Amino acid sequence: MKILIDSANIKKINRLNEIYYVHGITTNPSILAKEETYPEKSLSQINKVIDEKMEFHIQVLAETAEDMVKEANHILNTYGRAVYIKVPVSEEGFKAIKWLAKDGVKTTATAVFSVQQGILAALAGAHYIAPYVNRIDNFNGDGIELIQRLSELFEKKQIKTKILAASFKNTKQIEDALLAGAHTVTVPPDLLDKMGSHKGTDEGIKGFIHDYEAAFK
Ligand code: E4P
Repeated sequence: MKILIDSANIKKINRLNEIYYVHGITTNPSILAKEETYPEKSLSQINKVIDEKMEFHIQVLAETAEDMVKEANHILNTYGRAVYIKVPVSEEGFKAIKWLAKDGVKTTATAVFSVQQGILAALAGAHYIAPYVNRIDNFNGDGIELIQRLSELFEKKQIKTKILAASFKNTKQIEDALLAGAHTVTVPPDLLDKMGSHKGTDEGIKGFIHDYEAAFK
């Protein structure tokens, strides 16, 4: 089970990486666009602060398979590590995933909205498939059920592709995605903070200190 941070904000990444045991970072063009710095700068800052063993997922912006592969190679040369190349599952994206897999590049097939897309991405050789849980729900689908079905299918057919659940708007979705069979979840900073905190814990800590001081000071 792995938890990644779904952000390109270096301050938030540094803080959360210090507190929790996280396994990497995911970005996409919209996440990069939220930052005040240029995307290249955000990405190289992240690359510098994260551990060698941590996963780093960077998405291609190109629209043809040829250009996606070129962009992927540029990303791999720039960041000098085993970056996971995120490729949206468009027609061109499927092609690019197939070509990149042949070259031994690890891909994350992203923006997965159906079980069928997940199947095709797995057959194309994606290392991960990333279903968008909350966005699926917003289309009146069931993101968690989709993960369950893919997980069952991959296990039955002994498919090695892993499920990286993404697009969360509350912590219950994250818990449910993992229980449904997601190997990895990518979590926005605010939700990671919510996962780690509870009013009951804060009240408990205050009580311990109060009781101790009242008795012994
Ligand atoms: C991560 O890799 C995805 O791109 C991201 O979780 C999408 O989240 P959103 O639906 O909140 O934009």
